[in-house]
Amino acid sequence: MAVTETVLGEGISFALSPEQQAVRELAREFAEKEIRPKAAAYDEHSTHPADIIEKAFEVGLMNVHIPEEYGGLGLPGFDGMLIGEELSWGCSGIAVSIICNTLGAGPLLVAGTDEQKRRWLTPLTEEPILCSFGLSEPDAGSDAARIKTTAVRTGDEYVLNGSKMFITNAGHAAWTVVFASTDRSQGHRGLSAFVVPMDADGVTIEQHLDKMGQRSTDTSAFALSDVRIPVADRLGEEGEGFKIAMKTLDLTRPGTAAGAVGVAKAAYDYARAYATERVTFDVPIAMHQGISFLIADMATEIEAARLLVWQAAWLLDRGERATLQSSFAKRLAADTAMKVTTDAVQVFGGYGYMREYPVEKLMRDAKLFQIYEGTSQIQRLVIAKEIFLGRGG
Ligand code: CAA
Repeated sequence: MAVTETVLGEGISFALSPEQQAVRELAREFAEKEIRPKAAAYDEHSTHPADIIEKAFEVGLMNVHIPEEYGGLGLPGFDGMLIGEELSWGCSGIAVSIICNTLGAGPLLVAGTDEQKRRWLTPLTEEPILCSFGLSEPDAGSDAARIKTTAVRTGDEYVLNGSKMFITNAGHAAWTVVFASTDRSQGHRGLSAFVVPMDADGVTIEQHLDKMGQRSTDTSAFALSDVRIPVADRLGEEGEGFKIAMKTLDLTRPGTAAGAVGVAKAAYDYARAYATERVTFDVPIAMHQGISFLIADMATEIEAARLLVWQAAWLLDRGERATLQSSFAKRLAADTAMKVTTDAVQVFGGYGYMREYPVEKLMRDAKLFQIYEGTSQIQRLVIAKEIFLGRGG
């Protein structure tokens, strides 16, 4: 395994540059002032945070990854990780609404032509509009190659039919990259990717799904019924869709992992503060080893997860394949968020289980990190394939 060699062989600094520190501070301040105060109410009512998205757009916290030639800031992916952690520290439901354009725009960055990028990415930098990533279906989540949506070519168009499920932001998106089969007999090699405007004839949002956590992120199901898409809006060649999806997820999983680190850090901050205030048996509960060891493990595991996120981002920014490291980061950060938030509820005891206190929300929010963008089991599958098939690890 070349992980430590890759990192240590060429020297590494754990210090952030002044620019990175500034980005991090901007995101932290935004999380404190704009996100935290609204997090509980938006969670309770599943509010789509359009007002906060608009403000995030204005201060330059959205679409930071879009290259300058298409109107974006062209910041390295690493900076996106810093932003993702801080915004998710504020509230991951609101943060994902802001950040998920990274996933929606990913296939264009991976496979779009210059003209396609100009047409679809530049508008994202001009106004606070959203895009989404349409891979999952009612019968195809983890096994992404089994999607049933079809795209049949007729002249200069494709006609798309099918259903998409669990699509982040789809209910408010201007467009979605839809993965569909152009040749069912070819399995994953028969999938292709298309940019589908969400106001196209035949696109219907069927349901805004009611979730356990991250409730202020819209997650929708939509149907495609004879949706006509010009050939010019196919990304890559026919049959390249599956690899475009996988390469996109390699790029975005570290960002999702950064969000999980942010949620874990929020739970840790609350638990640490509470442990110094709450008194039992005449001393603050932090003085009891049963509690202090929980807090010590939280701090250790958060640090480990963050380092894996940073490593994956660092490799991706160098243009290297980072399938293995992206899955390392996603797996560890998601599982860490679940463990840390569960332990934070434990530190708070009965109060932790009450809606009045913030940690129960964090525990609900954390669960989703173990599911979307590839479950923790799928991350292990990817890691195992990289190890045993030697595809780049
Ligand atoms: N980069 C480039 N190519 C890759 C790749 C990668 N990271 N991973 C796989 N491939 C290639 C393989 O080399 C192989 O190529 P050939 O056809 O030339 O042989 C091909 O893709 C098929 O690979 P596998 O045999 O590994 O495919 P598989 O079907 O056995 O399993 C999987 C792949 C890893 C399980 C994949 O299906 C997967 O990642 N599943 C989870 C999907 C997922 O994360 N869904 C979440 C959607 S997004 C979301 O949740 C948020 C939202 O908003 C909806």
